Amino acid sequence: MSASAGGPSRSRHDAAHWDARYADLVRPWPAEPSSTVTGAVVGLPPGRALDLATGTGRHALWLTASGWQVTAVDFSAVGVAQGQARSREVDWVVADIHTWAPEAAYDLVLVAYVQLGVEGLQRTGRWLAPGGHLVVVGHALRNLTEGVHGPRDPAFLHTEQDLRRGAEGLEVVRLEEVRRPDPGGTAYELLLVARAGDPRPKVAP
Ligand SMILES: C[S@@+](CC[C@H](N)C(=O)[O-])C[C@H]1O[C@@H](n2cnc3c(N)ncnc32)[C@H](O)[C@@H]1O
Repeated sequence: MSASAGGPSRSRHDAAHWDARYADLVRPWPAEPSSTVTGAVVGLPPGRALDLATGTGRHALWLTASGWQVTAVDFSAVGVAQGQARSREVDWVVADIHTWAPEAAYDLVLVAYVQLGVEGLQRTGRWLAPGGHLVVVGHALRNLTEGVHGPRDPAFLHTEQDLRRGAEGLEVVRLEEVRRPDPGGTAYELLLVARAGDPRPKVAP
């Protein structure tokens, strides 16, 4: 596991908040991956994957079991330690995703249940290898009034417009609402799958 010094965060909660959340064993964080995430990724050919804001690593672990070579980043050392206890196959990184930068390109960048903002998404899209996919899953603005769980602050909910802008420069493959059954009702989520273009074929002289 590597660590970074951190840096400025545009998150609603800081690392200490998430450390305390993951240390609360009375209310353990779900260990199973989100069906919205698995449904979006399952058809993609495995390669190098980056799970941004991995938390306790439920998606990183599922990706590893599905044949991906995974790097997983989160600023909660407690969350990352829980993931690491379940698998040493993942490259676990404790860092602030707004200041961390990868050393290699990825075939998949997963952004699940964290709000990076338009510029943050555009930045992560630039980390894709040619033909790679950016997959973003999160609660929709609509969830605030009609759905269960998820952030209660509109600034941390997704809109189709923001996701489309975040995918600028990529080909949008899917951008849709997903209704996910959740304890107590329905969670309204948005799913973005966007693909980086292949490199331009070399023109023969
Ligand atoms: C709602 S949880 C989602 C965790 C995981 N993606 C999942 O679906 O289980 C949000 C996560 O984002 C992480 N996070 C928020 N802002 C971050 C930042 N600036 N850098 C790194 N991690 C961040 C938190 O530590 C937390 O683990």
